[in-house]
Amino acid sequence: MTEALLQKAAHILQVNDLGKYTVPTHGLYPFQWNWDSCLTALGQSHLNEDRAWTEIETLFEHQWDDGMVPHIVFHKEDDGYFPGPGVWGTNRPIPTSGITQPAVAGFAIKSLYDRSQNKTDARRRAFALLPKVFKWHEWFYANRDPKHSGLVAIIHPWESGRDNSVDWDDAFLRVPTDGVAPFVRRDTQHADPAHRPTQEQYERYIWLVQTFRNLNWDNSKLHDASPFQIVDPGFNGILLRSVSEVAALAADLGLRDIAEASASQLDRGIAALDSLWNEKRGQYTCYDRVAGCLIDSPSIGGLLAAFAPIPKSRAETIAATLDTQSQNCTYLVASHDPRDVHFDAKRYWRGPVWLIVNYMIANGLHAAGQSAMATRIDKDCLTLIENSGFAEYYDPHTGEPCGGGQFTWTAAMVIEIIKNAKVAA
Ligand code: DGY
Repeated sequence: MTEALLQKAAHILQVNDLGKYTVPTHGLYPFQWNWDSCLTALGQSHLNEDRAWTEIETLFEHQWDDGMVPHIVFHKEDDGYFPGPGVWGTNRPIPTSGITQPAVAGFAIKSLYDRSQNKTDARRRAFALLPKVFKWHEWFYANRDPKHSGLVAIIHPWESGRDNSVDWDDAFLRVPTDGVAPFVRRDTQHADPAHRPTQEQYERYIWLVQTFRNLNWDNSKLHDASPFQIVDPGFNGILLRSVSEVAALAADLGLRDIAEASASQLDRGIAALDSLWNEKRGQYTCYDRVAGCLIDSPSIGGLLAAFAPIPKSRAETIAATLDTQSQNCTYLVASHDPRDVHFDAKRYWRGPVWLIVNYMIANGLHAAGQSAMATRIDKDCLTLIENSGFAEYYDPHTGEPCGGGQFTWTAAMVIEIIKNAKVAA
C-alpha cells in the first residue's frame, strides 16, 4: 500500500516538474512559489537529490539585492493566475512578486545536506546557498522587526501562507478597499469559490499590493506604511527553526560568522516567542503590532510554532491541545479550532487540514519527545491521502478533498512521511 502511494506521489512531482522548478499544481498556481518549492525539495530528495537542490537554487536565483526572497517567481507568462506580474510591477528581469513567504529554506537545505548520499556535492551546494539563506534571515530582522523585538511581522496575509486565517479578520478590516483597480479573479475558475477567500478579502489583498507598489517596493518603508502588521507565531516558528538549522549547518561548513550570528538570532527569537504564549488556549497566538494587542484566536499558527526549538513544556502543552482537538474532528490538524464559531471546514485556512503544516508540527513534536502525537498526525495524513487523493487541503471532519488537485507539496509530504518512518523503524 505504501509502495502504491509512493508511486502516485512521485508521479505528481513529475507531472508538475517544469525542469528547474515545480508548479504547486497546473492551472490554479502556474508559477514557482517560495515555500512550496522548499517543501517540495524534501520529497524530491528521496527520488533525485540533484533535482531537489536545483529546486531551491532556482528560487534563490531570484533573491532581491536587499536579501528578500519573493513569494512567487513568474518564470513564464500565464494569464490563468491573478494577480500576475503586471499587478505587482516589481520591475525585475524575470518578474517576481514583491512580498515574501515562510522561511523554510534553511530547514530544507539542512535536511537535504544531512540525508545526502553524495556528500561532496551536497557540501558544495549547501556552501553556496547558506550565505543567501542567512542574508534572507537578516533581511527579516532588519525590515520586519524595526524595533528589535526578536519577532518579525508579516505585512500581507499572503506572506504567512495562511491567507484568510480567522486570526486577522479584525486587523484586516483596517485595510481599505477604495481605489482598488477592477480585477477578475482566476482562482475561483480553477477551484470551488466556497473553498477560497472571499471577494472582499481579495480587494484588501490587492489594496496592499497597490500600496506597496506605489512605494516602489522599498522594504525600508513597507513595514511602517502597512496598516497590517501581524506577528504570527507559526511564521516566526518556521523562521526560527530555519535559523537554528542554518546555525548548525554553518558550524559544520566552517562558516563561523553565520553560525554565531544565527545562534544569537535564535536565542532572542525563542525568548521573544514566549510573549505570544496563550495559557488559556494552550498554544501560541498572534500579536497585532498596529493595534498593540494579542489576538485571542485559536488557529493552527500557534500550534505550528512547535516546529521551532521551543521549550519542551510548551511542546507538551501543544500536544495536549491537539489531543483535545482530536476529540472534535476526524483528522488532525484543523487550521482553525473546530469548536470556535469562526471555524469553516472547507474554506482554505479557516478550518481545513494541510499536509505541509501537519508535517512541520509533527516534525517539531518528534524532536521535542512528543512522539505519540507526532505519529498520530502522520497517520492521519496517510489516511487522508488514501481516502481522498493528493489534494491541496481537506475537510477535517469528512476528509473531503478541497482546493486544487494533484498537489505537489502534498505529494512531497507523503514521500517524506513514508520514507522518514522507514528510517525510524
Ligand atoms: C494564492 O494566490 O492563493 C496565494 O495564496 C497567494 O500566494
